[in-house]
Amino acid sequence: MQDTAGTDRAEHWAEVYTRSGDTQVSWFSTEPVCSLELLDAGGADPGLPAIDVGAGASRLVDALLARGFVDVTALDVSDDGLAHTRERLGEMAGQVRWVVADVLDWVPDRRFGLWHDRAVFHFLTDPADRRRYRELLKSALAPGALVVVGTFAADGPEFCSGLPTARYSPDGLADELGAGLRVVARRREEHRTPSGVVQPFTWLALRRR
Ligand SMILES: C[S@@+](CC[C@H](N)C(=O)[O-])C[C@H]1O[C@@H](n2cnc3c(N)ncnc32)[C@H](O)[C@@H]1O
Repeated sequence: MQDTAGTDRAEHWAEVYTRSGDTQVSWFSTEPVCSLELLDAGGADPGLPAIDVGAGASRLVDALLARGFVDVTALDVSDDGLAHTRERLGEMAGQVRWVVADVLDWVPDRRFGLWHDRAVFHFLTDPADRRRYRELLKSALAPGALVVVGTFAADGPEFCSGLPTARYSPDGLADELGAGLRVVARRREEHRTPSGVVQPFTWLALRRR
């Protein structure tokens, strides 16, 4: 059961996908280049259970399957983005576990060896929501798990899709994610939106201590 905030979020993101489809949203990318670089930097093992939080219509799930990951979960508060991915994957969609939930309300029933989040954590502008996300990481990560997170950089946009964002330097993001994670790699990305606007991102790969 979702609370009001979760329902509002689901409706908000469903409207965004209805308006812009999968390829005209500002965060669209043909290849999850930074995600894969950081997976490699962190030595991600395809045998470990992986989750993409706020997966939407991202091509990361496709890339994980192509790399031989056999236990992949795609979670999103809106099924509208996930539906694009399912359609793109065709029969291979059956290899993915699809979860429609607000990550802040979600109670994981298992632990993951790889946690990926591109452009979800930066929407958590309320400190209580970030605290909940940190608690979730503690309960959902297996010991030694790899976490790959991409957020707007400190000089990134203050809003995205009509919502305010929190912006992070690499150190600021590491502090916010908590002392239980050790940084193993960092990147800066200049993401170019479909309309040609540059959005700086901060990326971290972290390992659970
Ligand atoms: C900016 S998009 C990024 C999508 C995808 N990660 C990518 O890189 O293409 C944010 C995604 O997170 C989802 N989302 C936003 N808040 C969420 C939440 N609290 N729980 C789960 N998903 C959420 C949205 O529906 C949307 O698909």
